[in-house]
Amino acid sequence: MDSNIKRIAVLTSGGDAPGMNAAIRAVVRTASHLDLHVYGVMEGYKGLIEGNFKRLENKDVANTILRGGTILKTARCEEFRTKEGRKRAYDSIVAYDIDAVIVIGGNGTYTGAKFFSKEYNIPFIGLPGTIDNDIFGTDFTIGFDTSINTAVEAIDKIRDTASSHNRLFFVEVMGRHAGFIALETGIASGAAGTFLPETDWGIDELLSMLKKAAIRKKLFNIVVVAEGNKNGDAHTLAALVHDKLKNYETRVTTIGHLQRGGSPSAADRVLASRLGYEAVNALVNGIENKALGIVHGKLHRVNFDDAIFKRKELDQGMVDMLSVLAM
Ligand code: F6P
Repeated sequence: MDSNIKRIAVLTSGGDAPGMNAAIRAVVRTASHLDLHVYGVMEGYKGLIEGNFKRLENKDVANTILRGGTILKTARCEEFRTKEGRKRAYDSIVAYDIDAVIVIGGNGTYTGAKFFSKEYNIPFIGLPGTIDNDIFGTDFTIGFDTSINTAVEAIDKIRDTASSHNRLFFVEVMGRHAGFIALETGIASGAAGTFLPETDWGIDELLSMLKKAAIRKKLFNIVVVAEGNKNGDAHTLAALVHDKLKNYETRVTTIGHLQRGGSPSAADRVLASRLGYEAVNALVNGIENKALGIVHGKLHRVNFDDAIFKRKELDQGMVDMLSVLAM
């Protein structure tokens, strides 16, 4: 098929996520296969505004599939939220003769793409790159799998010292608005309790479970707390438990940004490669202004509005399972 798309820009924006490089690599290699040129935009929308572009060829993405972070760097850009900022970005796109833009990021990234593509006739394609897994229209986001594996590996180590000292550890994992990371980390690490922003499971349930465990003389355990938990952070919960159940010695660990780094898992590399490949193919096939994802193993496309505003729900069955398996 004849396509007007000859020069594509690619950028990463928002919080970095392991696998972003694998997606960039797939974009570059697929474009090169189709004789298209790719320009990497440095530091997300900031680079788009400032015209900070660099030509990316196959050799530039060699040895990047295994690297965490993003070779294009990333930023959260306030200026792109303004009409003036987006006009400057448009001028850079025209100056570089760019026909289409692929953005890799989360909700904020998609919001920028949505506004820009309404104002200017430049096709955008979005790829879900965030450890939070909170993007509607895809079963998994790029980086999620690696991040939960990192959290579980850390908690397995914490469990050793928790058990040796008979201590109850509260481990805070990322996820300001969504509990996907906490839910799967809680299940995979065998946590006694998991606090999610979306559920009412709370301190009373935890206390009653800990009382039963204390009767069995089990005083060490792991409690996973999502960063965005409504009823208090890990420190607050730990203090509360210690206050009510004096026989429990508590400690708090925040995994935090550790979860954003590291070499991507095989699952994230495959997901990112598929989506990068599909993004370029979508553009040359005339598809515009869509967010791509994989649902039930198959490529899925949604409008930016749906990806931004439709809420991806936690699997209720998995939520119910949490407290059953924790007993
Ligand atoms: O969106 C990814 C994420 O890692 C969230 O889980 C976390 O709340 C946030 O980014 C942290 O952002 P920053 O690195 O800007 O502090």
